Amino acid sequence: MDLTLKVNGQEHRLGLDIRVTLLDALREHLGLTGSKKGCDQGQCGACTVLIDGRRVLSCFTLAATVDGEVTTVEGLSGEGEPLHPMQQAFLEQDAYQCGYCTPGQIMSAIACVTEGHTTNADEIREYMSGNLCRCAAYPNIVKAVEQAAPAIRAERKEPA
Ligand code: FES
Ligand code: FES
Repeated sequence: MDLTLKVNGQEHRLGLDIRVTLLDALREHLGLTGSKKGCDQGQCGACTVLIDGRRVLSCFTLAATVDGEVTTVEGLSGEGEPLHPMQQAFLEQDAYQCGYCTPGQIMSAIACVTEGHTTNADEIREYMSGNLCRCAAYPNIVKAVEQAAPAIRAERKEPA
């Protein structure tokens, strides 16, 4: 099937088997390997990307069904540009060990803020619970979300 995927501001024309997932289209066909394949079964969140700002599991989404612009971790900040506030917060809060889950955590964390689920640490934990971290960096991930939330809300011109 011929299709056009808009990813990180760029349109890509692809000829794909209709069974190809968005995750495989990104990693295998577009060379965007930031989104990780953890379980490939919709269980771990490592493959999380945004479509029109909403988080989706790209291993559970067929590329042919994508309707909207995809943002992957590569799209958050260009080379030589400042990091996205959530990337910066993950660095500063040491919110990872091996880093395998981190791209998915960061994409989910951005959505957690824009969805308005950062009232307190318990709410952040609840709305980040679809993203597993085998290194158990959870306490620092919560701190990173708390740190980045005001800057992301300010960018969106929402009350802090
Ligand atoms: Fe998609 Fe685990 S790789 S949820
Ligand atoms: Fe290793 Fe999360 S940092 S799985």
